[in-house]
Amino acid sequence: MRMVDLIAKKRNGNVLSEEEIKFFIENYMAENIPDYQISALMMSIYFQGMNQEETAYLTKYMVESGEIIDLSAIKGHKVDKHSTGGVGDKTTFIVAPLVAAAGIPVAKMSGRGLGHTGGTIDKLESIPGFKVELTNEQFIYNVNKFKLSVVGQTGNLAPADKKLYALRDVTATVDSIPLIASSIMSKKIASGADSIVLDVKTGSGAFMKTLEDSKKLAREMVTIGKQLNRNTIAVISDMNQPLGYEIGNANEVKEAVKVLQGERIEDLRELAIELAAHMTILAGIYPDYNKATFELSRIIDEGKAFEAFKNFIKAQNGDISVIEDYDKLPTSSYHVEVTSTARGYIHQMDAETVGIAAMHLGAGRATKDDSINHGVGITLHKKIGDIVKENEVIATLHTDKQENHEITKLLRSAFTINEQPIKRNRMIYDVIK
Ligand code: URA
Repeated sequence: MRMVDLIAKKRNGNVLSEEEIKFFIENYMAENIPDYQISALMMSIYFQGMNQEETAYLTKYMVESGEIIDLSAIKGHKVDKHSTGGVGDKTTFIVAPLVAAAGIPVAKMSGRGLGHTGGTIDKLESIPGFKVELTNEQFIYNVNKFKLSVVGQTGNLAPADKKLYALRDVTATVDSIPLIASSIMSKKIASGADSIVLDVKTGSGAFMKTLEDSKKLAREMVTIGKQLNRNTIAVISDMNQPLGYEIGNANEVKEAVKVLQGERIEDLRELAIELAAHMTILAGIYPDYNKATFELSRIIDEGKAFEAFKNFIKAQNGDISVIEDYDKLPTSSYHVEVTSTARGYIHQMDAETVGIAAMHLGAGRATKDDSINHGVGITLHKKIGDIVKENEVIATLHTDKQENHEITKLLRSAFTINEQPIKRNRMIYDVIK
């Protein structure tokens, strides 16, 4: 088999066989195929696409390029949750203890943030003492004992994806639905869960800006999951504005704790209960959606999810006094108010721009070697549909910088204010099964 023939075959719009996909992944990993030929293949896939079988084979051989986590020592049906990435997305901190309190073992591997989106692991590190690296034995022990553990992703999960993603990033081939779907699913499948619930974001702060593309990506990932024997469901959720009111690290942990304590931060609570409901149904804990959402709301309101969260933090050496009194979490030196320049209703709040403003404050990374400042971030005081007066405070910057003019300007540019009233966004657009 010659790589040049595979490139020509895909360039001409033909379907690659399982053997051909296996050939190029294995030989790329063995360094028998140069980057320039794989780049040409990625560009051919970008233009010609892949059918569902090809996408599933691509995922399968990316999974097999590395370690597949064996969670069989954990009792019960393991369900994982994955978000395609958004701004202010702290749902893992609510969903994970919530389903753990409902009886599902949660063995979760999470990533760090890059660019305008944050990462669960960075946010957890704003809790003093919290350990994001555990031995496999400790990870499994914690899940069996406390029903929940979250650790950083190990280096050897789907290494073919890591190598391909780095190449796609510099060859303008990231934005391809089969390539994104196989990339995400390879890591999820290698992480060892029995079932997977995907939170596919749609809107200005998401990878997929339109509902149509988000549905396509969701369908593709659900099909891959099923073809590789993982029961998979995708929830399509709104990312036309940040989730909740806090963006950053410590302040996102604080907001999640408020929801766990029963505070009604509606969009965040709604999405967390929705995702948790599908997870508990897949695990066979509840028979249907109505029962699941009712019981899960009760578990939050009775404080059981918060209890599970504290047990998990303590088990990974985190200082729970900062959870019980969240004002003790890291904070910034200055708090700068950002005011509205017009009166009217908030029509748009570009989530990506808000995420970039938070990144410039130090809450996120522009490149993967940047360090994170856990105490800085943004608090929003308004959401889409809210009314504002001229000069009213619409956001607060939590900053360690003395000069914040450019960031203030950038954050203001995320808001579009118009005189006409506008309906609030829906949180959940669809569920793909
Ligand atoms: N996230 C991933 O893990 N892979 C992609 O290709 C895009 C987003």
